Amino acid sequence: MTIYYHHLDWPNRDEYTTYLRDEFIPKHIPDFSQQQKSPWGDNKLEEYWIFFPNQIQDAKIFELQDFLKRNFDFPDISYIIILRPTKDLPIHTDGPDNGTSGVHHTSLNLQISGYEGNIVKFYKKVVDATGYIQGSSYLRAWNNREVELVDQFSCTNIWTLLNTGVPHSVTASTSGIPKICLSVRFKGFPKFEDSLAKIQSKTTLI
Ligand SMILES: [Fe+2]
Repeated sequence: MTIYYHHLDWPNRDEYTTYLRDEFIPKHIPDFSQQQKSPWGDNKLEEYWIFFPNQIQDAKIFELQDFLKRNFDFPDISYIIILRPTKDLPIHTDGPDNGTSGVHHTSLNLQISGYEGNIVKFYKKVVDATGYIQGSSYLRAWNNREVELVDQFSCTNIWTLLNTGVPHSVTASTSGIPKICLSVRFKGFPKFEDSLAKIQSKTTLI
């Protein structure tokens, strides 16, 4: 059976949630609640890409990188994204960053707020097609005739490894609280299956 996501019950999730919400975002994105910056061509998503460590020298992100490298032999973090979707995200595949080739198969996400009632869905392609969502770095949006729903989960405040290299969609917040999510991406575009295998083989050692 193909696995599309994996929840990771690491002990530092409360610490990171509080830190990101109360310190990291106010410090690095001081106008977070005002800005409208969307790669989707509308206001579906406010997305802040922060290249690490070039753009920021943040001790807690270094700590996360060290944790992942030491325990799971993960590659370095290439960048982190702070997402604040205000509408449902269409079915898409996470495409190349900044002109480099490759698809982000491995994403490590942590929902920070407004995730209650949100559902992440994964799909299998039933037709082959490529292209980009206009004005974005994301591979094309798929319509319902081109894909088949294969798995889904309800968002919770827990570290989650996701296969963002397959078509996926996310519903928006229904709670009235803005949805904010951290997404961590890695150098070398590691395959989801490889990242998952590393985590599963060493989890018992932590
Ligand atoms: Fe995505």
